[in-house]
Amino acid sequence: MTAWLFELWGGGTAVVEPATLRDAARLAQLHGASFHRGWGEGEFEAMLTERNTLVHRLRMRRKTIGFAVSRMAADEAEILSVAVAASHRGRGLSRSLLQTHLGHLAGRGVRTVFLEVEENNQPARRLYERSGFAVVGRRERYYRQPGGEQLHALLMRRDLS
Ligand SMILES: CC(C)(COP(=O)(O)OP(=O)(O)OC[C@H]1O[C@@H](n2cnc3c(N)ncnc32)[C@H](O)[C@@H]1OP(=O)(O)O)[C@@H](O)C(=O)NCCC(=O)NCCS
Repeated sequence: MTAWLFELWGGGTAVVEPATLRDAARLAQLHGASFHRGWGEGEFEAMLTERNTLVHRLRMRRKTIGFAVSRMAADEAEILSVAVAASHRGRGLSRSLLQTHLGHLAGRGVRTVFLEVEENNQPARRLYERSGFAVVGRRERYYRQPGGEQLHALLMRRDLS
């Protein structure tokens, strides 16, 4: 199993590595804490079993603190979800996580990656822009908040060389 290591100033070493079925419960916990419609453990188990789905975990010491999930079809992929635990945000960890994830997608023959991001999600937009994604579309009222508010989505794309 290949792992990528990132030394963090004063914070230990973060590792990005393929997730396994045993991570399903923790990934569901992290997802539920980051999104209002959380994915359950069963959904993660299914994704971790499917051959066309790629899941990486971000680990610090023995604790998983983030993940990235993509689905592949031919030479295209869609990033379905990326999250870092709130206690570990703002340290650039998501960029390392995403870069490693994209590298694996390229290794699987993916040439184009798409994703959707809520227009006002500044940390995520910044992450994707800094990682080479460009806005290629906008979907009006794509997300519905628990309170009924409807938010717009941006469709972003990056070509992998
Ligand atoms: C999006 C997310 C993964 C970013 O993780 P992170 O490890 O904190 O990201 P980073 O520390 O690399 O910061 C990303 C960028 O956002 C910026 N940023 C952080 N908080 C911000 C804020 N409140 N407003 C504007 N920019 C912000 C950072 O400065 C950084 O930009 P920079 O590289 O130009 O300095 C994390 O915020 C998260 O898990 N959010 C909840 C789940 C989510 O929204 N996922 C994306 C769904 S599409």
